[in-house]
Amino acid sequence: MIRGKTALITGASRGIGRAIALELARQGAQRLLLIARSADALSAVAQEVCQLGAEAVALPLDLTDTVAVNVAVANAWKYHGPIHLLVNCAGVAHQAPFLRSQLPHVQSELETNLVGLYTITRQIARRMAANRQGHIVNVSSLMGKVAAPTMSTYSATKFAIVGFTQALRSELADYNVQVSALLPSLTETDMVRHFQRFRWVQPATPEQVAQALMRGLSRGQREILVGWQSHLAIWGMRLAPSWVERLVKLAAPKSRPLPVSRYRVQTIYR
Ligand SMILES: NC(=O)c1ccc[n+]([C@@H]2O[C@H](COP(=O)([O-])OP(=O)(O)OC[C@H]3O[C@@H](n4cnc5c(N)ncnc54)[C@H](OP(=O)(O)O)[C@@H]3O)[C@@H](O)[C@H]2O)c1
Repeated sequence: MIRGKTALITGASRGIGRAIALELARQGAQRLLLIARSADALSAVAQEVCQLGAEAVALPLDLTDTVAVNVAVANAWKYHGPIHLLVNCAGVAHQAPFLRSQLPHVQSELETNLVGLYTITRQIARRMAANRQGHIVNVSSLMGKVAAPTMSTYSATKFAIVGFTQALRSELADYNVQVSALLPSLTETDMVRHFQRFRWVQPATPEQVAQALMRGLSRGQREILVGWQSHLAIWGMRLAPSWVERLVKLAAPKSRPLPVSRYRVQTIYR
């Protein structure tokens, strides 16, 4: 489905986005437009893409800069378009017990994972709709279906992406634009390098996630899961949600409780 086509991948400088870009090149994509903030890392990935026989265009860009995104998409479409596949993979995650969470971290998750994704999708979806052709893949997470302690705000953004994808799928079908969600589970990338790990979860490699995406796209799946543990978790949530919640709590990293005195001080000054 990608042979001879043009794809734009956000978050392409490393991790899952990089693996998806390389897999698309292997599958015969003609041109890949690569977005992330780090220009050096992007050009390294662009070189790898070229070695696989596809054309690569590195577009260093901060997705939270709305004006820059609008200008970049307009230029990319004009000079390298039409774009047939958009993979929204850029994302950030902060792990913290909710009672210790910090607003700047939450804001950065909301700005990148939701507002940034919305901004670039709107610009590209309008053009795909006018062309009556296109496919959008939004990278959510298994945590967009099964939320977990220490990941509450990240999970909130990933649940939102699943809802956003579902609504867009209905709306854009009228314009022959398909919309799918990719829901990786724990994957060995920079994102999780300093995370406290969940017990019993087998990590995937970025390459396994990219291959699962290709299989899912070729089968026309709306929500693409990665690995048997994800399928088990989703079925578990359907059949026995309270058991899955208990299991996830057992698997989650333990957080230190807040000192009791802090609650007392807050109560006195309320
Ligand atoms: N790793 C996991 O366990 C896991 C599991 C489920 C879902 N996911 C999702 O998979 C996606 C990729 O994650 P990953 O593990 O590959 O993470 P990663 O290795 O940290 O890569 C994140 C990518 O997003 C880019 N990025 C971040 N903020 C950006 C911004 N403001 N503007 C443009 N680009 C930005 C980064 O590039 P720059 O820093 O150069 O901008 C990088 O290319 C994310 O949406 C994540 O939520 C990951």
